Amino acid sequence: MFDQFNRRINYLRISVTDRCNLRCTYCMPEEGIVQIPHSQILTFEEIVEITTIAVQHGFEKVRITGGEPLVRKGIVDLIRMLNAIEGITDLGLTTNGTLLKQFAQPLYDAGLKRINVSLDTLNPQKYKAITRVGVLSDVLDGLAEAKRVGFNPIKLNCVVEKNSNEPDARDVKAFAQANGYFPRFIPKMNLDEGIFGVVEGGEGGNCSTCNRLRLTADGILKPCLFSDIGYNVRELGIAKAIEMAIKNKPACGIVNRTNEFYNIGG
Ligand code: 5AD
Ligand code: SF4
Repeated sequence: MFDQFNRRINYLRISVTDRCNLRCTYCMPEEGIVQIPHSQILTFEEIVEITTIAVQHGFEKVRITGGEPLVRKGIVDLIRMLNAIEGITDLGLTTNGTLLKQFAQPLYDAGLKRINVSLDTLNPQKYKAITRVGVLSDVLDGLAEAKRVGFNPIKLNCVVEKNSNEPDARDVKAFAQANGYFPRFIPKMNLDEGIFGVVEGGEGGNCSTCNRLRLTADGILKPCLFSDIGYNVRELGIAKAIEMAIKNKPACGIVNRTNEFYNIGG
């Protein structure tokens, strides 16, 4: 389906949980977040139904996000269920990588072939400072395992202050080059001020070609990361929510006060 600005909306990003096992400083307060009650989280059946109807509306690309998607119980089963939906040409998942050593093989066997892993630095102390509780070697082990089982492409999401010339970003770039990963540099966003930039090496941040809708873990379809509008699939019905979200997708986002990344998945 095309929106009012002639953008073909064919990319659905699905947040399967608002929970995360890290506490990145730019994403979450240290004490964590008010979590969506389990009773409100979409079931796998609901996610599959929404995705199926989205495909009928012309969606082709699906990305699973969080929070951290690998902390959702049964995530491998969900991947298998989504992989069985005909018409999805591109199924991907974005993870912080900390649990990837354990999950890479089962996810691959369930049909996932593309993965994006967050990696802002190769310095273990800095990694700990950014994530508050993370251990860098877990991510590096997870990446090695993802490569071993055959994921392709493996992209690295690197949050930068301004651009990829910063020392940590240069380290990530060299590490990616040496290992066959594809780095993307995401300018740090300030959600309170609505400041965002264009992703180097990726598609995000350019409103004129934005082709995505986001589904929150509790079933709200959001046309734009930088707008508060959202459509509840349970209240409106799935097809109606999809159609309204596409129809009301803003030309360009401005400010978002209510959402943080843990709920909407970057
Ligand atoms: N600015 C830019 N990227 C962010 N992410 C989380 N919070 C921010 C922010 N404030 C990114 C993570 C991850 C993806 C899920 O979202 O680094 O790569
Ligand atoms: Fe978790 Fe990702 Fe937020 Fe870090 S940025 S706290 S890994 S959801």
